[in-house]
Amino acid sequence: MSDNDSNFGEIKIAFDNVYKKDVDNIPWTRREWLDDSKLPIFNYIQNQNLRPQSLLDYGTGTGHLAIAIKEQFDIPKIVAADITNNCIDREQLKYFGIDFIQALQPKDVSGKYDIILCWAVFHYLTKNQSIDFLTQFSKMLNKNGTLILSAWSSHDETFKGKCERISLNINLPMYSDRIPQDKKVLNRLGFNIVTKGNLVHNANGYKRLLHFCFLKQTNN
Ligand SMILES: C[S@@+](CC[C@H](N)C(=O)[O-])C[C@H]1O[C@@H](n2cnc3c(N)ncnc32)[C@H](O)[C@@H]1O
Repeated sequence: MSDNDSNFGEIKIAFDNVYKKDVDNIPWTRREWLDDSKLPIFNYIQNQNLRPQSLLDYGTGTGHLAIAIKEQFDIPKIVAADITNNCIDREQLKYFGIDFIQALQPKDVSGKYDIILCWAVFHYLTKNQSIDFLTQFSKMLNKNGTLILSAWSSHDETFKGKCERISLNINLPMYSDRIPQDKKVLNRLGFNIVTKGNLVHNANGYKRLLHFCFLKQTNN
């Protein structure tokens, strides 16, 4: 990987600590976040008439999106991965038949998938790391597979400098302010943008903007 991969250790420690706090105070563990996030993902799977047999939820957090997807679409193989395992109720995931892998980067997870979801994670990556993640994901997708990405915008009032402000009171790095949409990189990796958009999420009284994008891989 690139020169930047050495900071994954730091990021892991930061997230280990985030999830040691009162989980109800973490904006993305709440019901509203799940409901807001679910909508574009469910719509996409339904509108595209997809019948995915496998899905990786990379940067799964509490695993609530993976569970919601499992309940709605009954995908036989779902794997959830995160840099920390402090956030996960493994028993609950097991109950839904979802495997959990602790991973610093996608290549730590084995297997190939029809859908890879990486929701609200890319803003923690530097530009080089983003390209590495895209490259790794492209190798993990089945032909015609879909990669779903989202990242928080830094153009809202919840970010000041490099700090994630809302209630966490912890210095989480915040690099890219949008998901990678560099056409050259996407083309090289065989990705086409099928749809993209923004979602406004209300977090602790702040309006927070999330960019998302759905990419289809055609050359695997
Ligand atoms: C904002 S949370 C989103 C969680 C979940 N996707 C959701 O929408 O509820 C970002 C998650 O990405 C994880 N994460 C950050 N960097 C990561 C990395 N390099 N590899 C795996 N997970 C990572 C964090 O631990 C955290 O759980």
